[in-house]
Formats: sequence, structure tokens, C-alpha cells
Amino acid sequence: MRMVDIISKKRDGKEISTEEINFFIEGYTKGTIPDYQASAMAMAIYFQDMNDREKADLTMAMVNSGETIDLSSIDGIKVDKHSTGGVGDTTTLVLAPLVASLGVPVAKMSGRGLGHTGGTIDKLESISGFHVEITKDEFIKLVNEDKVAVMGQTGNLTPADKKLYALRDVTGSVNSIALIASSIMSKKIAAGADAIVLDVKTGTGAFMKTEKDAERLAHAMVKIGNDVGRNTMAIISDMSQPLGFAVGNALEVKEAIDTLKGNGPEDLTELVLALGSQMVVLAKGAETLAEARKKLIESIKSGSAIKKFKLFVKNQGGDPSIADDTDKLPQAKYKIDVPSKESGFISNIAADEIGIAAMLLGAGRATKEDKIDLAVGLIMHKKVGDKVEAGDPIVTIYSNREDVKDVRAKIYDNISISNKVEKPVLIHKIITE
Ligand code: URA
Ligand code: CA
Repeated sequence: MRMVDIISKKRDGKEISTEEINFFIEGYTKGTIPDYQASAMAMAIYFQDMNDREKADLTMAMVNSGETIDLSSIDGIKVDKHSTGGVGDTTTLVLAPLVASLGVPVAKMSGRGLGHTGGTIDKLESISGFHVEITKDEFIKLVNEDKVAVMGQTGNLTPADKKLYALRDVTGSVNSIALIASSIMSKKIAAGADAIVLDVKTGTGAFMKTEKDAERLAHAMVKIGNDVGRNTMAIISDMSQPLGFAVGNALEVKEAIDTLKGNGPEDLTELVLALGSQMVVLAKGAETLAEARKKLIESIKSGSAIKKFKLFVKNQGGDPSIADDTDKLPQAKYKIDVPSKESGFISNIAADEIGIAAMLLGAGRATKEDKIDLAVGLIMHKKVGDKVEAGDPIVTIYSNREDVKDVRAKIYDNISISNKVEKPVLIHKIITE
């Protein structure tokens, strides 16, 4: 088999075989296929796309390029949740303990964030003492005993994806549905998920800006998951404005705690319930979505959810008392209100730019090596559709530097006020096939 023949075949719009896909991925992982051939191949896929069989094969070839996590010693169906990424997205912090509080095992591998705000691990590390460097045995023991644990990505999972994603990033082939879908799904499958709930974001703050693209990506991922024997579904949710009110690591932990106690923002709470009910049903913790939702709401009301959060924090070395006193989380030195310049209705909050404003304060990383400031970020006071009077604070900046002119300017540039507008729909679609 010669790589040049496989590239030419795909370039001409022909289907490539399982053996050819395996040859490409194995060779590229080992280094016998050079970057220039892999980048030509990625570009050919970008233009010619792949059929369902090719996508499933590419996914499994990437899964098999490295180690996989075996979660079979954990009782029950292990459901994982994946978000395609947004601004101020605190859902994992709420969902993990909430779903676990119903007895459904949540064995979560998470990463650090790049861009906008931190990832789940960064957020959790704003809890004093919390650590994710636990061994696989400890991880499995915690999930078996207490139903929830979060572990940092370790080992050599999907090395082919790591290499190919980095290559696509610098050769203009990131935005291929086939390549994105197989990249994301390979990581979930290698991490041991039996079933997968996907939160595919759409809007200015999302990877997929239009609903049509988000839907195509969701369909591709759901099909791959189901084709390789993992029960998979997707929710397409709005990311035209940040989720909830908090954007920033410790601020989002506080928002998650509020939500687990039943005092969270309406949109975050609703998304958590929608994703959570799907997870519970896939794990066979309830027969219907309505039943699952009822159980989740009950767990928040009764205090089981926050109790599970405290146990989860304590199990991983963190101080559980932060759930009773969130002032113990890292605090920023300055709190600076940004008042509205006019009266009217909030018509747009550009999620991506608000994410960048938080990053300017130090809440996110521009490069992998950057250190993030866990205390800083933004608290939004309004959502799209809300009424505002001139002088009302629309955002509070939490900063460790006194001069925030740049951040303030970015906020003014990216929040618009006009006549009355409708609130955006939070959940656009549910995709099960
Ligand atoms: N996120 C991924 O993990 N992979 C892609 O290809 C794009 C986004
Ligand atoms: Ca938020």
C-alpha cells in the first residue's frame, strides 16, 4: 500500500477502505508517513468528505492508535458528556455531582482550557487542595464507592488525533465535519464511555457558528457513536451569549454551587436538567426523560446534589466547606461595575468577545504555557432580551489589576442595546440519529 495512492483516491472523491484508513493512521502515528502526506490527506478529506463508514473507521483507527481506558470494573453504564466548548460553560461542574447523586456513575476525564476561560480542571483547582492527579485505581475506587470522580488526562490516549489536530491547525483543515467528529468521538471512546451525551453549541461563542453546521456536526458524531456501539445523542444548545452569568474559573465554581443548591441562573439550570436527564436515561437510571428530570430536580431540592458535590470535593483533597462559604474561593482584588450608557433592551452579547475580555484579565490561556488567574473574570448582570436603564451595571469586572480600560472597552463594544428583542432559544434541537 502506498500513501500517495490513498491520497489520490480521496482527492478524486472515491471511498477509501478500512485497511487504507488504518494504514494512514498507523503510519502517521509511527512516523513512517510524513506530515506533508498527512496534511494532503486531511485536505482531501476536507474537500471530498467521508461517508459514515469511513468516519467510523477513522474514529476507531484513532482510538486504536494509543491506550484506552477500561472502565469495566465500574458497575453500571458509564455515560460521558462532552461539550464542543463555549463561554462561561459551567455545566460539567454541576452535572457530575448531580447525576451521580442519583446513583449513576460519572467517571470523567477532563482537560485544561485553551482560550476563553479555563477547562473543567482549571475550574476545580480554584478549590483549595483539589487535585486531579489520582491513579487509575483510585479513580475507579472513587467512582465505585461514591459514583463520581474527575481525573486529569493521563497516558497516551489517541496520539493520532493529537498529531493530526495539531497538523490541521496549521494547514487549514480544522473545519471539516468528518475530521472534527472523528477527533472528538475518538477521545470519548478511548476514555471508556459506554454512552455519550453531546452538547453541541451554536452561535458566536461556539466552534460552529451557524445552526446548520452545528446540526451537521451533531448528526455526524451521533452516527459515529451509534455505529461503533456507543449509545450517543446530542443536544444543540445556544452559545450566542455566555451561559449563566459567570465567566471565569472561581466565579464559575460559585455559579455551579448556586445551581446545585437550586439558586442558579435559569439557562444554566435548564441546560443541566436537559443534559442530565439524557445521561440518566442512557445509564438506565430512569425509564423516561420526564422521570429523570423529576429525580434531578428532587435531588437539588432535597440537598442531595450539593451533598454529593461536597463529598466529591473532599474525596479529591479539596475543602468542602467552600460550598457553604464561597468567599473561601480565590477572590479578585478589584470589583469594577460597568454601567449601561443607555436605556433599552439588551439585544446582543457577543459570547466570543466576552470570553476574550475575561482572557485579557487572565482567566484564560492564550498559549498552553500561560498561567491563569483563577480569581478573575466577569459577572454579567443581564441576558439578551432583558430591560436595562442607563447607569445600571451590566457587567462587574473581577480583576487583579486596577486599570481595566481595555476590558471595559471590549465589553462596551460587544454588548448592544436596542428596542425590545426576543430572548434566544436555549435548546435548538435534540438529535438521536
Ligand atoms: N475539537 C476537537 O477535539 N477536535 C477537532 O477536530 C476540533 C475541535
Ligand atoms: Ca457561566
